[in-house]
Amino acid sequence: MQASGETVQIGDGRIGDEGAVAAALPEALLAWYDLNARRLPWRALPGEPAPDPYRVWLSEVMLQQTTVAAVRAYYARFLDLWPTVEALAAAEDADVMAAWAGLGYYARARNLLACAREVARRGGFPRTEAGLRELPGLGAYTAAAVAAIAFGERAVVVDANVERVVSRLFAIAEPLPGGRTAIRAATDTITPDARSGDFAQAMMDLGSSICTVKSPRCLLCPLSQHCAARAAGTAEAYPVKAAKKAKPTRTGTAFWIEREGAVLLVQREGKGMLGGMRALPDDGWSARADGHGNPPIPGNWRPAGVVRHGFTHFDLELQMMLCAGADCATLPPGEFWPVEGIEAAGLPTVFAKAARLALAHR
Ligand code: ADE
Repeated sequence: MQASGETVQIGDGRIGDEGAVAAALPEALLAWYDLNARRLPWRALPGEPAPDPYRVWLSEVMLQQTTVAAVRAYYARFLDLWPTVEALAAAEDADVMAAWAGLGYYARARNLLACAREVARRGGFPRTEAGLRELPGLGAYTAAAVAAIAFGERAVVVDANVERVVSRLFAIAEPLPGGRTAIRAATDTITPDARSGDFAQAMMDLGSSICTVKSPRCLLCPLSQHCAARAAGTAEAYPVKAAKKAKPTRTGTAFWIEREGAVLLVQREGKGMLGGMRALPDDGWSARADGHGNPPIPGNWRPAGVVRHGFTHFDLELQMMLCAGADCATLPPGEFWPVEGIEAAGLPTVFAKAARLALAHR
């Protein structure tokens, strides 16, 4: 926290005496959190001992780009299968990728494993933000969150909820993504030395329950008297975002090849899109903007409709083709998986959708 007495201006919002705000604002927020903290399975409530760093780390990785509601079941399943970081480190890659299926952003699962193995090799998590940053695949956000929440270190934690709250408090007009530098600097000025993990989670809870994207409930907000956007009546306008580029649509083809009640699945390569995941064979739509990078599979194909799926940077229209196994002579390397147990294959969502379509048309 900065010393009292300076007057600073961040963004468009005059926030007055920086030191006074820096003290009063976290106090008000923490008092609110003491009464209103969400009970979440990875969380210690105010006053309880800090949670296991493995659990904090796992939850924070899962919660990036994914909602609390979606994460709950995955988090419980991971802890069932791998209750410690050592257990996760010893897991088979394919099992972890399959357990992640449906959560999206699969690079997170590959990074999770690389990180678990390094932590197990070192005999535990480093206890500082800088030490955590040295782990493979552990980014700035996760390092700050784990350092603050699990180890009580003062760290500046900024996720999408915090971004929204802080951009409103300080009326930061610079559009995202460029505005993130100012938002982080402003968050730094209000992050307290003590309880910075509770502070971060309080900001997240405030963002998800009161300082919502649409129709923020400013009348209930413990920070309303500190909020520049509220004073100007413009809370909903923040955070300002740069105009989105239109998403392109890519097309591709996936193949359902069935023999004796089993369907051919392949393991997708390395680090590319959905890398390491089990999938239906396809024409390589993900590797090239125009798709069709894989050699054609000769066969007697029957179209079964189109699956649409939105990825971060493009939308996909995936044509499903069906083939009775006897009609397909040359197959890509893979495994025949019992159709009845296809749910257990851990297909990423786009291929799970494709499988459902094929099953309805075979
Ligand atoms: N989103 C990211 N981290 C979170 C946490 N610890 N609690 C609630 N939501 C979150």
